[in-house]
Amino acid sequence: MKLGAAELQTLRTGALLHDIGKVTVPDQILNKPGQLTHDEMEIVKRHPLVGFEILKSMRTFEAVRPIVRWHHERPNGTGYPDGVGGDDLPLMPRIVAVADCFDALSSDRPYRPCLPLDECRTILEAGAERGDLDGRIVDTLMHIVGQGTADLQLATVLN
Ligand SMILES: [Fe+2]
Repeated sequence: MKLGAAELQTLRTGALLHDIGKVTVPDQILNKPGQLTHDEMEIVKRHPLVGFEILKSMRTFEAVRPIVRWHHERPNGTGYPDGVGGDDLPLMPRIVAVADCFDALSSDRPYRPCLPLDECRTILEAGAERGDLDGRIVDTLMHIVGQGTADLQLATVLN
């Protein structure tokens, strides 16, 4: 995505901390094997704002806060907690949103096993079609993963 070293560092920190607000979500909700009820979902949906509030008093995390607050927002404006989209939704949370979705799809979850790469790609590309995800980021991720060098490139970014 042609980010500089400082932006990559912000992205890395934001990716590590993006779900920090989940510390307030009870384990029985986080680890529930079945569908969440409406009320349980409303509790889960608080975590971006809770995370934002946790980091609010720490100046070190100023650049990271938009990632934490907006990693469940969507380019088409249908995400949460603020419903920001279009030009108001910055690149960093868009990247973490795509990475978060890919991580969820390609990992075992309490409610289903991990999905094969082709299926992950189909779901992410459908998400981009709807405007739920940034298509340019999905394409970039799939390009990297398709090269089979994702681990190598991630290792380079993280070290
Ligand atoms: Fe999250």
